[in-house]
Amino acid sequence: MKFNTKTIHGGQKHDPAYGAVMPPIYQTSTYAQTTPGGHKGFEYSRTHNPTRKALEDSFASIENGTFGLAFGSGLAAIDAVIKLLKPGDEVISTNDLYGGTYRLFTKIFEDFGIKFHFIGMENADKVAQYITKNTRLIWVETPTNPMMNIVDIKAIAEVSKKNNLLLAVDNTFATPYLQRPLDLGADIVMHSATKYLGGHSDVVMGALVVKDEKIAERLYFIQNASGAICGPQDSFLVLRGIKTLHIRMQRHCENGRAIATYLKNHPKIEKVYWPGFEDHPNHQIAKEQMDDYGGMISFVTKGSDFESAIKIVENLKIFTLAESLGGVESLAGHPASMTHASIPKEEREKTGVVDALIRLSVGIEDIDDLIEDLEQAIG
Ligand SMILES: Cc1ncc(COP(=O)(O)O)c(C=O)c1O
Repeated sequence: MKFNTKTIHGGQKHDPAYGAVMPPIYQTSTYAQTTPGGHKGFEYSRTHNPTRKALEDSFASIENGTFGLAFGSGLAAIDAVIKLLKPGDEVISTNDLYGGTYRLFTKIFEDFGIKFHFIGMENADKVAQYITKNTRLIWVETPTNPMMNIVDIKAIAEVSKKNNLLLAVDNTFATPYLQRPLDLGADIVMHSATKYLGGHSDVVMGALVVKDEKIAERLYFIQNASGAICGPQDSFLVLRGIKTLHIRMQRHCENGRAIATYLKNHPKIEKVYWPGFEDHPNHQIAKEQMDDYGGMISFVTKGSDFESAIKIVENLKIFTLAESLGGVESLAGHPASMTHASIPKEEREKTGVVDALIRLSVGIEDIDDLIEDLEQAIG
């Protein structure tokens, strides 16, 4: 089955009761048993729920994995991955990553004795330099949020395999429409399904997909034991969202390309971060591991600072000033005061997240309206 077909049919069965084409929202916490243990595969909805199961099977299918797991948020999914580790274990992570992931690693898991090394991963050899006898996991975000750096998943997977480590990739920005980390050698794919997979800015959810049965077993155990699951209604909404992922992504990519090009040619713009440009430092890797370049773009206007960047995002009328990304509507954000405010200023500026940086999640509206909006806001 090819990707566009998988988004609609992958892992899906018509409901056995009445043949419903969409899985019903099984809004139940528990399931009748004929005798203790005599049930139809579902006992309690923290452990399993048929609507969530349909979604988890869809996750596995679109990421070319075997096992999918849905969580109450992207961070809950990341939390489950780090719970595969023990005190004393070490993680090597990209240094330019979503602020909430950085906060979870440094403000929660460091207190439990897990050590994190945050490094630039543009060169896989550099990753190897940080491996110690305690390293267990490499955490990659690519494209990175918000600097749009690209990490070579295949090269990092080679280092990871050689050293018997786990490699997890946050595939939120690219989605499996553009990039399939398991095919490139990763062990775990993670999503904030809140973003492109859900696609309509109406759900908060996380996803994990793996191929290996042992890793899956442990993650299912953690999912049930820690309990950070999502409900059936949200599962239904994300499953519905995935059915149009391919056509939404196609338009996100088209609009993203048009806006990146418009900004690059704008006399008031200093720098545009978008991996589709040939002069992007990791363009070659992006070209090899992604099928297109997506709708996430960051930029800095000439001579701008904190206040002038705020003014631009406040002036936008069709782009909504908001946290999050990946919905059908265009959003603009100011990472320094919003998504990345939890990263200390010195740390975020080292990776380019300066006060003047603006991040766009380009939606699927009419491109002329989006460009006109940017034109009036930038001035
Ligand atoms: C790349 C990335 N990973 C993880 C997360 C966390 O996901 P959630 O907000 O669903 O917990 C986000 C949220 O913005 C994100 O952008």
